[in-house]
Amino acid sequence: MATDRATVLVTGQLPSSALALLGDVDVRTVDGTTNRQAFLEAARGVDAMMTFVTDTVDAALLDAAGPALKIVANVAVGFDNIDVSATRPHGIVVTNTPDVLNGAVAELTWGLIFAIARRIGESDRLVRRGDWHGWAFDFMTGMELAGKTLGIIGKGRIGRDVARRAAAFDMRVVFGGREAGGEVDGHPVFAIDDVLAMADVVSLHVPGRPDTRHLIDARALDLMKPTAYLINTARGIVVDEAALVEALRTRRIAGAGLDVFEREPVVHPGLIGLDNVVLLPHIGSATVETRTAMAELAARNVAAVLAGRPPVTPV
Ligand code: DGY
Repeated sequence: MATDRATVLVTGQLPSSALALLGDVDVRTVDGTTNRQAFLEAARGVDAMMTFVTDTVDAALLDAAGPALKIVANVAVGFDNIDVSATRPHGIVVTNTPDVLNGAVAELTWGLIFAIARRIGESDRLVRRGDWHGWAFDFMTGMELAGKTLGIIGKGRIGRDVARRAAAFDMRVVFGGREAGGEVDGHPVFAIDDVLAMADVVSLHVPGRPDTRHLIDARALDLMKPTAYLINTARGIVVDEAALVEALRTRRIAGAGLDVFEREPVVHPGLIGLDNVVLLPHIGSATVETRTAMAELAARNVAAVLAGRPPVTPV
C-alpha cells in the first residue's frame, strides 16, 4: 500500500540514534560504493539520500533519483564526492557535517606527527620482525617536537584545532594561506611557499578541489627542509603522490604521515616499501563519538529539509 512517508536512501550502516532522528520515514539501504547499478536503482524515487565520501553523487545518480529528491546529506565534512553544480538546477540541497569531526581529525593528525617524527610505525615493525637486538645509543633516533615549527596549510577549523594542541608540545605555529599577512588565533600567516620552507612539520588542512589538486607537487616538496615531515589528513589529491614517493625515496624530505591517498583505497606502490612514511586507511574522523555525531548531524539535515525547514549545515 502506498504511503505518504518520505523515503530516505542510506548508503551504509548508520547508528540507530541517527536513524531515529529521521522521524517517520521509510529507510532504504544500499551499498553505494561497490555496486553502482544497485545504487542507481535504489535511488529511484527517494526524497533524501545520506551518503559517504566513497559514494559518487553525479548527474546520472540525480537523474536516476528523479524529481522527489530534495536533499543529499553527506556524512562527511568533505563533499568532493558530490557534483554540487549538478544538484543546483534541481534545487536539491547538499549538506555536510562540519565541526563535529574537528577534534577527531586533529587528534589523528597529532598521532601521525608523533608516529613519523618518533619512528613509531617503523619501530613497531622492527620489533614484530624479531630484529630488535637491544638498546643502543643511536638506535631509532627521531626528531623532538619541542621548539620546532608546525606549518599548517589552510586556515579552516580543523587546522585551527590542530594548531591549538601544538601549545601542549611547545611547538611554534605558522599558518600558510594563498595570501600572506594577518594572524589566525594569534599565529602569523605566511605565503604557502614560505611555510613550506620554514616548517619542521607541514600539515595539510585544505579541501580537495580542482584548485588544491597537487598543491604539494615536486616543486613544493623541494622547498621543504630535508629534515621536515609532511602530514596529510585532508584529501589525497592535494599531494602529487608520485612526487612524494620520489622525495621520500631520495630523502629529499625526512618523512610523511598520510591518512588519505589519491586513488583510495589504492595506495601508490612506491609508498608501501618505504620506512619513512606512515600509512593509515582514511580514519581521521573514525571515533565512535565523532562518527555518531556526524551521522546525527546528517540526519538532522534530512529531517529539517523533509519538514520544509532550512538545513542545519548546507554546503
Ligand atoms: C570527511 O568527513 O570529509 C572525512 O574525510 C571522512 O570522514
